[in-house]
Amino acid sequence: MRVRRMPIIYNEQEKTITLHTRNTSYQMKIGPCDLLLHTYYGPKAQGDMSWCLSFRDRGFSGNPYDAKLLRGISADTLPMEYPCEGSGDFRAPAFSMRRANGAVGCDLRYVSCEIKPGKYALDGLPTVYADGEEAETLEVTLADEAAGVRVLLQYGVFPSLDVITRAARIENCGEGSILLQAAASASLDFVSGDWDLMHFYGRHAGERAVGRTAIEQRELLIGSRRGTSSHQQSPFVILADRETTELHGPCVGMSLLYSGSFSCNASRDQFGTTRAVMGIQSEHFDYPLEPGEAFQTPELALVYSGEGLARLSQRFHRMVSQHVCRGPWKNRRRPVLLNNWEATDMDFTGERILNIAKTAAELGVEMLVLDDGWFGARNDDNAGLGDWTVNTEKLGCTMGELADKIRSMGMKFGLWIEPEMVNEDSDRYREHPDWALCIPGKAPVMGRNQLVLDFSRPEVVDAIFEQITQVLDECRADYVKMDMNRSITDVYSAVWPGQSQGKILYQYVLGVYRFMDMLLERYPDLLLEGCSGGGGRFDVGMLHYCQQIWCSDNTDAIDRVRIQYGTSFGFPLRTMGAHVSAVPNGDTRRKTPLHTRAVVAMAGTFGYELDLNLISDEEKKQVPAQIETFKKYWNLLHNGLFYRLTDVMQNRQEAAWMMVEEDGSEALVNIVVLDSTGNSPNRFVRCMGLTPGASYKDEESGMVYDANALMAQGLPMPMVQHPRRPVKVTPNEYDAFQIHLVRI
Ligand code: DGJ
Repeated sequence: MRVRRMPIIYNEQEKTITLHTRNTSYQMKIGPCDLLLHTYYGPKAQGDMSWCLSFRDRGFSGNPYDAKLLRGISADTLPMEYPCEGSGDFRAPAFSMRRANGAVGCDLRYVSCEIKPGKYALDGLPTVYADGEEAETLEVTLADEAAGVRVLLQYGVFPSLDVITRAARIENCGEGSILLQAAASASLDFVSGDWDLMHFYGRHAGERAVGRTAIEQRELLIGSRRGTSSHQQSPFVILADRETTELHGPCVGMSLLYSGSFSCNASRDQFGTTRAVMGIQSEHFDYPLEPGEAFQTPELALVYSGEGLARLSQRFHRMVSQHVCRGPWKNRRRPVLLNNWEATDMDFTGERILNIAKTAAELGVEMLVLDDGWFGARNDDNAGLGDWTVNTEKLGCTMGELADKIRSMGMKFGLWIEPEMVNEDSDRYREHPDWALCIPGKAPVMGRNQLVLDFSRPEVVDAIFEQITQVLDECRADYVKMDMNRSITDVYSAVWPGQSQGKILYQYVLGVYRFMDMLLERYPDLLLEGCSGGGGRFDVGMLHYCQQIWCSDNTDAIDRVRIQYGTSFGFPLRTMGAHVSAVPNGDTRRKTPLHTRAVVAMAGTFGYELDLNLISDEEKKQVPAQIETFKKYWNLLHNGLFYRLTDVMQNRQEAAWMMVEEDGSEALVNIVVLDSTGNSPNRFVRCMGLTPGASYKDEESGMVYDANALMAQGLPMPMVQHPRRPVKVTPNEYDAFQIHLVRI
């Protein structure tokens, strides 16, 4: 009998389970000995794909006991859907457990599957949600009853988004306790192809550079052990065919919806199969399960594109902006804000803030955000965290009064918080030293001279929430910037029994999610911006709560071009917090024109981070014009299809990107000159995504271009006026241009 329900098809005769999106297909096969095999992920395809399986008898690749004399059946050589340690598969496992008797390993086999309408949700964890979109859920049960473990593989299929999500729920169905040692969200095996791993690495103030490394016969391991997703590696990777470019070739993106430590292991096995396993970091993860208890992995979102990296990114952008982000700000233009951090640091008074706000309001800024330093004894970063009481002496008024004054200028008001942290020099710590993560008898590792509060404990989360919301209630904050400024160490919690210490980091992340959920529930209109020393916790998990995340503490326009370029592979522009700051830049000492800083900030949320009283009169005239430009192009900037026109990691001459209205009717080309040289060669920027055969008019110059020619030959680099002579010359280093093309 053939049970058929689109988009998930279980074919009982063939023993295949196939997931179809509009343009892609994914297939599993219930193989011999009930091993669950992975036969396909690629462009839309029909039929039983198990012709790709090779059952050759290979030396030193063991066989399931029940395979008897069929020595070609081996978990070590076949593509496995959820590989586990103990099954004879010696490649990187997705799952590993220790039994009560100390033995490691189990042997998961297929038990059953069920197809359900709609998209599954995960308790306390972020997910891609359907929101009226057609979606289906598949649940596949694997088990090793003798080992006392059952694994529910969860799949969400979004046909029109071309997205498939995966997660796993592990249940102790036995009589003794078990210890989870690895529980990845998903593993993907590709039986053919030469694949590269693209990963997004960096550092504080230098996040998400693009790395591209051939996956060969050794394990490539990237991830974070920092308790957060980290500045150093992003929980977003791409497997790209070696020949894949922006517009051509196959690639698969894996985006983990989790904001804690994670890992991705990619390797090519002895017979040419490429495997990528991704999920929660298994180091510091010994997760005990008593009989009847279960563990839920975070979700991983998968996108396949057969047409290059641009299409892959566009699919993720749509998924994140429409099916991960929530709340009323999801599709609303965000207010153009000014944040005082780079203008004042913590050295401000209420009067100085009002002075900054007044000029900002006059120039068209729509929201003032008061950053760090408004609470407790917080005048530098050595004290005060944990004491969420307003420093009225410093402000010269209450927070409610300050917010009212700012509102009377016609602006909204936002506030910075860092709820997960405590300074030893704080009343909170003096009262509850045990609330900080700390190993008894060991001096803790300090970071920014602060300690991490134990957010795995609900009472700690509740107490901080209670105090912070008193201030937010009082000032009726329209916006909150939620920061987190150190990596997590000294993971020990007095309340978890010894065996359970391995649960803390996971429960901590759940505590952070609960904190944000409570904030959104209490303030349904709140615009929440995530932050972790800039982009140290920039992941799709956070974006389920925050509509935007401060992309980097580095606001230098030229460095930001590279940081935002890398971020754009997995995240939409509208989620990248980006501001115009003062020059010379505090980080790089580089001077860039105000216009360039604005063009770069418009490839993000767009705002300001400087005292506008201190810029020249000439520059003051530019600010309202920039805000108008942002408002004019907002829809295109934040909703248009995004194309990276140059590879910023390789091309040091110019950076270019463009946004195209989904119907092709208009486009905005953005160019930043990275380098200039005397008597320079002619330069062109090849456009992408325009309507083939159509003509486009440059709105400003009136010039008409053929779309095919713009995409093949390229748009000539604009020329600029010579400062003294009546001639046009090539632009200077750091000049920037926006060219608005309208289809005619
Ligand atoms: C780090 C953030 O990234 C900055 O923008 C600022 O909010 C500081 N923390 C404040 O301490």
